[in-house]
Amino acid sequence: MISQKMQQKLNEQITKEFYSAYLYLSMEAYFASQNLNGFANYFRVQAQEERDHAMMFFNYINHVGGRVILGQIDAPQTDFSSLEEVMKMTLDHEQFVTRSIYDLVDLAIEERDHKTNAFLQWFVTEQAEEEASAENNLHKVKLVGTDGRGILMLDAEMAQRVYTPPANPNA
Ligand code: FEO
Repeated sequence: MISQKMQQKLNEQITKEFYSAYLYLSMEAYFASQNLNGFANYFRVQAQEERDHAMMFFNYINHVGGRVILGQIDAPQTDFSSLEEVMKMTLDHEQFVTRSIYDLVDLAIEERDHKTNAFLQWFVTEQAEEEASAENNLHKVKLVGTDGRGILMLDAEMAQRVYTPPANPNA
């Protein structure tokens, strides 16, 4: 079992992860409309990963005998002024998610809920990778600026990203 408070916070995390998927799908749509199909592909994969994250929390709550309650997902931003804005927003969003995961870990420790803490450690590692990728992407788009050739080179790089399902026993 998990506490009512932990259950509520884990349920809220499901909503945050689905919102992340929604936000990245919105970015995919934006890039598709700009004919930057590599960037669109990158964010499609990102959105798939976020749905996996949401389902990992969903499955975990069920696994420990809790009750999943799905919350409302806000509409994401639909238009963006530049490549750099998208990448900055991605980094900001991932930092927000990291803080949220850390809050969950803090609660697990406070409640001596070692089982949930162990489950959450996968996300601690994942968030470090997410932030590193977002920082790297932001750095690259800042480097190329508005140079068309540079943007097309980055677009080709982004097209290489392939979705791989999470290797997590709780998924
Ligand atoms: Fe599920 Fe990108 O955090």
